[in-house]
Amino acid sequence: MIDPGPPGTFRLAPSILAADFGELAARVHEIDAETDWLHVDVMDGHFVPNVSIGPPVVRSLRPYSTRFFDCHLMMTEPGRYLEAFKKAGADGCTVHVEVGGTKSLIEDARALGLRVGLAANPDTPFQQVAPFLGDIDLLLLMTVFPGFGGQTFMGDVMSKVVSARREVDQQRLALDIEVDGGIDVSTAPVAVGAGANVLVAGSAIFGASEPLEAAHSLREAARS
Ligand code: DX5
Ligand code: ZN
Repeated sequence: MIDPGPPGTFRLAPSILAADFGELAARVHEIDAETDWLHVDVMDGHFVPNVSIGPPVVRSLRPYSTRFFDCHLMMTEPGRYLEAFKKAGADGCTVHVEVGGTKSLIEDARALGLRVGLAANPDTPFQQVAPFLGDIDLLLLMTVFPGFGGQTFMGDVMSKVVSARREVDQQRLALDIEVDGGIDVSTAPVAVGAGANVLVAGSAIFGASEPLEAAHSLREAARS
């Protein structure tokens, strides 16, 4: 597995969902200098009302990037595909707490040597993920309802980020807190200020005229 970096340090995770899939390797290469993790949004058309990509695209992209592949599985049955993602070159897989079976999904991902993430939708209470904090490497708190890029940041999720950061710090957990959805130069500092240390951004980067510069501006804004 590619090293995800020290828990708690800042990471920028561009989401390839917003990239031109017809030139995916080139678009990913173009922003590599500002990429810490590559966020791979997988949608099954069932857990979310959209279909995106799966293991074949991860396998095709793997040789073109040395970055940590942070795979966000927006799938009703992620357990059926963890091994395929691992074999395709995924470094981390994040499953949604809303699909249930969280304990065994975490165990299955761990057994495959994957870095393990747990995601919560904006309307899922922190109490639903809190029992698993000690068993995961990444907590993904969605600031949009999953399914599409380019949506508006939901600021009321920040109270959940604050609660998560308090728990992680109090329990001294080696856990990254990732925020995903509507991150741009104005919302990046808000998310980091609330306690997130990994930011996903799709349209703010790949939708920009100069994606590399846009990614750099996001990184600067996050520190402001
Ligand atoms: C939404 C995905 C997000 C999305 C982020 O279901 O999980 O990762 O692609 O896109 P932006 O940054 O455009 O909101
Ligand atoms: Zn995502």
